[in-house]
Formats: sequence, structure tokens, C-alpha cells
Amino acid sequence: MGRLSIHILSIFPGIFEDLLNYGIVRRAVEKKLLDVSIVNIRDSAPDKHKTVDDVPYGGGAGMIMKPDILAASLESTVPFREHRRPEVVFLTPQGKRFDQSHANKMSMLDEFILICGRYRAVDERFREICVTDEISIGDYVLSGGEPAAMVFIDAVARLIPGVLNDFESGIEDSFQNALLDCPWYTRPEVFEGRKVPDVLLSGNHAEIKKWRYEQSLKRTRQRRPDLLDNSEC
Ligand code: ADE
Repeated sequence: MGRLSIHILSIFPGIFEDLLNYGIVRRAVEKKLLDVSIVNIRDSAPDKHKTVDDVPYGGGAGMIMKPDILAASLESTVPFREHRRPEVVFLTPQGKRFDQSHANKMSMLDEFILICGRYRAVDERFREICVTDEISIGDYVLSGGEPAAMVFIDAVARLIPGVLNDFESGIEDSFQNALLDCPWYTRPEVFEGRKVPDVLLSGNHAEIKKWRYEQSLKRTRQRRPDLLDNSEC
């Protein structure tokens, strides 16, 4: 087991096949700091058609994911131990908005479960009884929770202590100060008639640091003033 174990419940487990094979998530797995198990909810359906959904009581368009199948899938993945199980996160546009501070908190846990919904909805009783947290990655509707689960895992995996090297952690710290990043430049010095700002060529590290901070602040004020509302900037 890795430092953090994440279990994903989905009816489309194949979507996640490559998630662990690239970049920093792959490094987290290789360093044994993360393991991800992907569970097919259909495996818990007892009938020969492997039914996981049914029509809504009261009528209406769309299908509803069955609470008994979801609960069985959860129990087969992480059984209740001493009347508790790790956090069960349901990905839904109705959830609390996911952000960096939430990612930080999740990266400190030993284990959690992500539930990916499909179809019109998940039966309310499953949400009430089994789900401990409902999370949205933004104010738009995806066709299912799977892409949201990938975003969630990527954001959390990079924050597990030991996954990023010291240099990358330094970068992470500057992202975590709740400001947008400053502009960055590399060679050539002039591109399409546009020159890299003089200060970056000056070699004056104190001035460069100050310039970057001011640029971050300016960009945040222009693009995301809401981020400044609760800070001292
Ligand atoms: N499932 C569908 N839309 C979603 C969203 N915006 N966030 C999380 N899960 C979702």
C-alpha cells in the first residue's frame, strides 16, 4: 500500500487506464506514495445484465443509479471497519467547489474513495447513508464524475509529501499563496518583435522577485479579484 490509497468506483473503469502512466502521478505511484484501485460498479450487480440503474420514482426523463448496487460496490471495496470507513467523496456539480486548500487536506489522508456518477442522478439514499463529502470541480455539467475524479487525483497526488522534489515544491508554495502566477519567458530574447522585460535580464534577484510578485498581484487583480477578497494583499 502507498502512503495514500485512493479507490475509484465507476461504471467506466477503462477511462482511468492511462491516468497512472504519466508525469507526476506516475512518479507518486513509482515512489510508493500513492496507489489507486479502480473498481467497476457493475461487478456488484447480481443480475445477468449487470444492471446498475433504474427509472426514477415519480417519473421523468433519465435513469437513476441504484443505491443497493452502489452500496454493495462500496462494501466490496472498503468494508465498514468498526462502524467506519474512509471518506467517501461523491463527484457532482451539486457539491462544494474543489480548490487548492481542499486538495491539501485530502493529500494528508491515508485513504479515500471517489464515487463517479453517471446517468441522471444517484439515488438520494446512497448519498445520505454512504457519502461523506460532495465535491464539484466547477460550475458546469460533465457527462459523468470520471473526468472530475482525474482532476481531483492529479491535484491531490502532487501534494503528497515526497512526491515533488525540493525545487518543484518551491514552485508549489508560490502557487499556494492564492495569487495567479506571474508571466514567464525563455529564449529567444526577442520573439516577433517582443523583448523579454529588462528586469529579467538584469541579474538583480531582489528586483526580479519584486517584479514577479507585482505581476502576480496585477494579474490576480485583473483576472480573479475574488481571490484577493480574503487576503491581506
Ligand atoms: N459530475 C458532473 N459534473 C461534475 C462537476 N462539475 N464536478 C464534479 N463532478 C461532476
